[in-house]
Amino acid sequence: MFAEVKEMGKRLSALVTGGAGFIGSHLVDSLICKGFHVRVVDNLSSGKIANIERWLSDEHFEFVEGDLKDQSICSKSVEGVEVVFHLAANPDVRLGEIDPSTHFRENLFATYNVLEAMRRSENAERIVFASTSTIYGEADVFPTPEDYGPLLPISIYGAAKLGCEALISSYAHTFGFSGVLLRFANVVGARMEHGVIVDFVKKLEQNPSVLEILGDGKQKKSYLHVKDLVDAFFAVLPCLERAGRVEAFNAGSLDWVDVKRIAEIVCEEMGIKPEFRFNNALGDGRGWKGDVRTMRLSVERLVELGWKPKLNSEDAVRQSCRELLQ
Ligand SMILES: NC(=O)c1ccc[n+]([C@@H]2O[C@H](COP(=O)([O-])OP(=O)(O)OC[C@H]3O[C@@H](n4cnc5c(N)ncnc54)[C@H](O)[C@@H]3O)[C@@H](O)[C@H]2O)c1
Repeated sequence: MFAEVKEMGKRLSALVTGGAGFIGSHLVDSLICKGFHVRVVDNLSSGKIANIERWLSDEHFEFVEGDLKDQSICSKSVEGVEVVFHLAANPDVRLGEIDPSTHFRENLFATYNVLEAMRRSENAERIVFASTSTIYGEADVFPTPEDYGPLLPISIYGAAKLGCEALISSYAHTFGFSGVLLRFANVVGARMEHGVIVDFVKKLEQNPSVLEILGDGKQKKSYLHVKDLVDAFFAVLPCLERAGRVEAFNAGSLDWVDVKRIAEIVCEEMGIKPEFRFNNALGDGRGWKGDVRTMRLSVERLVELGWKPKLNSEDAVRQSCRELLQ
């Protein structure tokens, strides 16, 4: 369908939930540039109008300000749409410890509402879901493949995302949708508002002589630049031709970098040499409850589709830090 539509010069209609957020807005930029008609739905809880401002007057762009917990907003958003990129969520893993219900409402319940709206719609039968490496929990196989199991998340966020995956799979099989579960590693780049780089930069702007590092600094994970992730969204589109099927793909860089090295890179980019103070309050090296210490994903399935990340973890961190400081 995607190739066919391109040949016919017809514009496909896409909905990007959470399209005013960090990753969503980069996806919107590329979808419009590649000739899609794009509708964004976002409640602006963490997203910003500034991220999508350049498209507001474009005839191929629509913005629905609203909350996916409201079923009528979901119905309005999916109307006339052929493919849904579902990114809206509360991505704050640390919040789970304080308030588990937020992940239930903003992630699981909102996803159920999106699927219900799709079920009632005429054309919205394809969904790409922003999933996460946290669904694997503390994996003991690296790089972790998509068929790793049992899936035992250690954060409420990871559990809610795994629940979303299960809902999408069941809706696809019951109602003939097609879906892709795209499981991201840590994503970094311009417009990011959360995560370790943002945390370090904010702390160092307050006090350039000391940097508090949560955990023992040895947590080692894969970091993917947002532009590489956007390429992954396009690489999986042909999989949406298979009605009734849901496929999972990991999206991550081919290597990993530890938190101490990230701190060093941020300091190099800021031109400062603070003292590092490790806060290992939990005593097991984690920065917070639910923090997975080691994560690297097998991306062979995505590579088979012709995708390859341009940046490794260190370069993605360095480039994102520069983008943030600009
Ligand atoms: N950033 C990462 O490293 C990472 C890693 C793995 C998965 N993800 C997933 O990718 C997606 C995008 O993450 P991000 O980092 O861009 O976060 P973000 O907070 O920048 O984007 C989320 C967007 O969703 C919107 N939103 C939240 N709840 C909503 C609701 N109920 N109704 C309508 N809009 C709502 C927010 O306003 C925001 O614009 C999320 O689903 C996240 O879980 C992110």
